[in-house]
Amino acid sequence: MNMPIETLKWIGDTDGTLELIDQRLLPAQSQTLQCHNPEQLFEAIQTLAVRGAPAIGVAAAFGVCLGVRSANTVLDVMKSVNETCDYLAASRPTAVNLFWALDRMRKRAADFAEQNPEDLAAVFKEALLVEACAIQVEDQKMCLAIGQNGESLIPDGGAVLTHCNAGALATAGIGTALAPMYAAHQNGKKFRVFVDETRPLLQGARLTAWELTQAGIDAVLVCDNMAASLMQAGKVDLVITGADRIAANGDAANKIGTLGVSILAKHYGVPFYIAAPSSTFDLSIESGAQIPIEQRNADEVSNFGGTATAPEGINVYNPAFDVTPAEYITAIITENRVIESPDKQKIEQFVKP
Ligand code: MRU
Repeated sequence: MNMPIETLKWIGDTDGTLELIDQRLLPAQSQTLQCHNPEQLFEAIQTLAVRGAPAIGVAAAFGVCLGVRSANTVLDVMKSVNETCDYLAASRPTAVNLFWALDRMRKRAADFAEQNPEDLAAVFKEALLVEACAIQVEDQKMCLAIGQNGESLIPDGGAVLTHCNAGALATAGIGTALAPMYAAHQNGKKFRVFVDETRPLLQGARLTAWELTQAGIDAVLVCDNMAASLMQAGKVDLVITGADRIAANGDAANKIGTLGVSILAKHYGVPFYIAAPSSTFDLSIESGAQIPIEQRNADEVSNFGGTATAPEGINVYNPAFDVTPAEYITAIITENRVIESPDKQKIEQFVKP
């Protein structure tokens, strides 16, 4: 499938840079941002220049390559890997893909150092870059497989509702929640996507609407508070969203507002799907209650585009994510299969740790 959006790209060899689409500027401006060091990437992750669980993970893997650029010995490389991983792990708390990717880079480094203690730092750095590229390519493949596995859920002539952005901009590939839509579109199906604007940072309006429009998919932007009336009117056949972390029992954290959509879907009998790769599962935690939820700055709610939209000093509650209980999830679409009515047993059986 042709996907022109390149959310993140490593440029050069081991002394290269990470180029990101600066998602803070979309849709008004389409600009890239170069990260030359972990500090720049940390800021890019925290301020959502790069965002979406899988994309954060892939970016962090390359961030480790940025962190080892000036190391001169095998020992130095190892030290820099650990320092960079600790540092980047503090950038955002909820998406488990970040920690998954960093753990994988740490493991690759530990294995390399054990097997090649005398080797040159340059070879070590190459091994790390190869690992980061492998994580990127795997993510692309997982997105394609999610698309294939979820495509048949979209009826020809039907309508899907999605929340936030779980598309190409949120991954290294064609996305998770949007992947079945891209696959259905490619197969010639006609359908409509209702795009929740996704307050407060408008990932739906700014990013999903942009992506779907570019792909020629019929997208209709709605305010978050319109989903109920759409479902009441029978205008939504299914909901597909992404996830930032799925607990062992199937509870899934995703962008704030997803829980409300899932409750509405249950009320109106609309199937509610989560699309996520295996890197989004966290089998170390039993339920969604243990998922750390990021609290973000009050300004995101009380200001817009630098203009105050609420009285100065107003108290603000701004969690970035909420948790949808497994019982509200019709199925989880993964790269391996569609897990119907997810629960602990099925997740243990179908998801490789
Ligand atoms: O705060 P964001 O924009 O990083 O939140 C993103 C989401 O909630 C996505 O739905 C999720 O990460 C899945 S992306 C494939």
